Amino acid sequence: MEVRKIAVLGAGLMGHGIAQVAAQVGKFNVNLRDINQEFLDHGMSMIKTSLQRFLKKGVITQKEVDETLKRIHPILDLKEAVSDADLIIEAVPENVKLKKSVLSEVDGLAKPDAYLASNTSSISITLLASATSRPEKFCGLHFFNPPQLMKLIEIIRGAKTSDETISLLVDVTKKMAKDPVVVKKDCAGFIVNRILVPALNEAISLVWEGIAEPEDVDKAIRLGLNWPMGPLKLVDYLGLDTTLSIAEVLRDNLDPKYRPSPLLRQMVRAGLLGRKTGKGFYDWTK
Ligand code: 3HC
Repeated sequence: MEVRKIAVLGAGLMGHGIAQVAAQVGKFNVNLRDINQEFLDHGMSMIKTSLQRFLKKGVITQKEVDETLKRIHPILDLKEAVSDADLIIEAVPENVKLKKSVLSEVDGLAKPDAYLASNTSSISITLLASATSRPEKFCGLHFFNPPQLMKLIEIIRGAKTSDETISLLVDVTKKMAKDPVVVKKDCAGFIVNRILVPALNEAISLVWEGIAEPEDVDKAIRLGLNWPMGPLKLVDYLGLDTTLSIAEVLRDNLDPKYRPSPLLRQMVRAGLLGRKTGKGFYDWTK
């Protein structure tokens, strides 16, 4: 089957970027769906801002900007968004109950031969697949933030994912100029988050234990390991709530040693979620 139309569910931080990459680089027609007009408008405005950055740098032309925007159709109605899609990428908030209910509804509305993928960063692919009647046509498709710039995609096998689904998704992501890796077993954190989140958690523990200031932890890792941004800035960028929920999944599914730092939990309780709320380890309001 050739994928021509992709539906992206959720126009948030990841969804808008996935829709943009699919339309801009993959040249796919994209239905971008969210539950209210405000979320859709916000997603489209983030896409326009990002396209303007590429235009300003000369990465793309005005014609490509216009053509990309023409290929993206913002849609509120779920049935309209998914019924003619060959591939549906779910990027709704990281909540098991919500994801399962969206996927189960989509399964009933999508074409019988359509493929489904979830951009979950930590939830079991096999569990999400169980909400559908087509687990062999379901896999994880984990993009990295910001999806417009990050080359990697993790393609994750659920217990029943077919070889055909994996090779189709490898082809689709290559058309988006991404560099995919296949995660052969459905395992908490996949590859990157299993390594990254414990490192971020250790950075938070260094601050909690009073060993160094956040700026110095970040400086040490930027200059010592050549990371593009320090771990605490990255936590702010990704969201402290997201980081906490991944740490909890690692702890619950792999080993108690992955328990989140008390400071991470405390900051989430205080609403200090990073860039999205204006304050985390840094002040993002300026
Ligand atoms: N669209 C288009 N261009 C963008 C962009 C976007 N959304 N965001 C940033 N850019 C461009 C800017 O225009 C700028 O271009 P220039 O250097 O040619 O002028 C360049 O990227 C750098 O941007 P900024 O100067 O605003 O900021 P930074 O220098 O801090 O770069 C960054 C931003 C690319 C995000 C870089 O800091 C970085 O690579 N950080 C690490 C990101 C990372 O580790 N992501 C993975 C997180 S893990 C994950 O996502 C998994 C999840 O499950 C938790």
